[in-house]
Amino acid sequence: MAARIVGVGKYLPERILTNEEISRTVETSDDWIVERTGIRERRIAADHETSATLGTEAALMALRTAGIDGSSVDLIVCGTSTPDSIFPATASLIQDAIGARNAAAFDVNAACAGFMAALATGAQFIESGLYERVLVVGSEVMSRITNWHDRSTCVLFGDGAGAVLLEKGESGGALSFVLKSDGSAANILYVRGPTSSPLTISEAEGYFMVMDGREVFKVAVRAMEEASRQAIARSGLTAGDIHHAIPHQANARIMASVAKGLGLPADRMFSNVERYGNTSSASIPVALCEAWEEERLNIGDHILLAGFGGGLAWGASVIEWTGLGSVLAQPASASFGASQA
Ligand code: ACO
Repeated sequence: MAARIVGVGKYLPERILTNEEISRTVETSDDWIVERTGIRERRIAADHETSATLGTEAALMALRTAGIDGSSVDLIVCGTSTPDSIFPATASLIQDAIGARNAAAFDVNAACAGFMAALATGAQFIESGLYERVLVVGSEVMSRITNWHDRSTCVLFGDGAGAVLLEKGESGGALSFVLKSDGSAANILYVRGPTSSPLTISEAEGYFMVMDGREVFKVAVRAMEEASRQAIARSGLTAGDIHHAIPHQANARIMASVAKGLGLPADRMFSNVERYGNTSSASIPVALCEAWEEERLNIGDHILLAGFGGGLAWGASVIEWTGLGSVLAQPASASFGASQA
């Protein structure tokens, strides 16, 4: 049984925060941020928006591009490290909002590797034969765990959501997965919360992200490269067979180093980091959706996905693109998308 991607979706909040605006509050500059990260601007959620509302919009687009409605979804897995609440799961809120009345729902948290973990989890439910349609969402409001007085982190992150609808098929779709973790390096990237040991919470850090950027950078390149190699090998391919690489959009330099290490030409590496910054679990499905919108994806193409984040946690997958549009049942609503590969 194969888990195919038959729907893609994204949602980015309207508010654009530019590098120039950030440079008015912390000591930095547009030139520094662009040179070190490739980021020019990012989106910031409005006060009424949350991971659930952003994720709902992305999920609805994934359903529309698949040509189905929420009632035929069996499971929703949401990758997020910025949930609306400690519980209920953000996936349950999305389930209600999209009318997925027959679906199970839960969140997975693997920081910026959250979408890779959610995608692998969703695909297993299809490959095992338990479910036919799984909605996988990555949604984040990173702006709410960002310390806007810390220039080493606040220039990097943004808010957004992406989603894919997985459906059972005979072949193609997810060809391989690699997921890894190294909890011994948990201290180089973390966010404390109200359930942390009070002994570990400091007034200076609060509930904001703390990161050793230089260390994270080094491990990110090594880990994504290694996981990508393994995922390519597990799918029986070589780097030359990869048509598109859609990595976690953390930093243009990290992506360039991974591409170089894998021997992938720069034009096969999809990037939108300059417009959105690092949207954590949302970055890979948003980028995948935009690669589809830009008509870069052709049936039979091999797409390498690779993510990395706090935990540390990372993973990679190779997907064979089979085109959008549900083929399992008569589409309930096909407003757009199903005609394009
Ligand atoms: N503007 C200006 N100067 C800055 C800024 C800034 N925004 N931030 C740091 N600097 C300064 C530092 O203070 C340092 O100054 P010093 O030499 O006087 O000490 C200098 O710039 C160089 O600092 P580095 O940290 O060495 O800069 P680097 O080139 O490594 O870039 C960056 C920093 C962009 C954070 C980089 O390390 C990086 O991208 N790391 C990976 C981060 C990442 O992707 N994290 C997310 C992982 S996913 C997740 O799960 C959340």
